[in-house]
Amino acid sequence: MDDALVSVRQQAFLGEKETIGSLLQFYLDELSCFPGENAGYRDPDGKYRYLYLDACWVEPERFRCPFLSEGSIAGFAFVRMAGASREMAEFYVVPGFRGWGVGEAGGTEVLQRHPGPWAVIFNKQNGPARGLWTRLPRKLAAGRVESGEMDPGHEYVRFAVGDRRGSLSA
Ligand SMILES: CC(C)(COP(=O)(O)OP(=O)(O)OC[C@H]1O[C@@H](n2cnc3c(N)ncnc32)[C@H](O)[C@@H]1OP(=O)(O)O)[C@@H](O)C(=O)NCCC(=O)NCCS
Repeated sequence: MDDALVSVRQQAFLGEKETIGSLLQFYLDELSCFPGENAGYRDPDGKYRYLYLDACWVEPERFRCPFLSEGSIAGFAFVRMAGASREMAEFYVVPGFRGWGVGEAGGTEVLQRHPGPWAVIFNKQNGPARGLWTRLPRKLAAGRVESGEMDPGHEYVRFAVGDRRGSLSA
């Protein structure tokens, strides 16, 4: 996909919270299919409980970044602080937009807007996530990319993103 066809906003508007909240349900449902994910965190009405949606709209250290394509929300990233690092807490591309580079373009933009240390954790069985989070850190990291097993079901990748000129900010 042409980079110009996907843009990333630093913070979703309040009016986009309901749409992103709905997409989040599809995202959590998709992730729950991987082994070792806790599929038991649903309300009696079948909705996944996600405790941080409101926090994403109020806490200054959290970012809820929509990926926009021709007026539609094609995906989103939720970013939070984890110690001294930023963590890609959630990352989703709507199925109809997949395989065209939205994840790569969106992820690149989000990472480059936040130079410094990053961590991403993904399920070991999630091939697309592994592909993306192998490729992007190698492309954008200023320095070493560290990866390994987080727990029996998950892998982590840690790296530092330089600023857009490629150097690390203080
Ligand atoms: C993972 C995900 C974000 C990829 O989004 P996408 O827009 O399809 O990704 P892109 O088209 O930008 O592809 C970028 C790279 O990701 C990897 N990738 C994407 N889809 C893949 C697939 N089906 N299998 C293996 N690697 C894949 C590849 O490295 C790809 O580069 P390439 O096309 O040159 O091989 C998307 O599949 C998704 O939302 N999945 C469900 C939610 C999820 O797993 N989120 C990640 C949680 S950490």
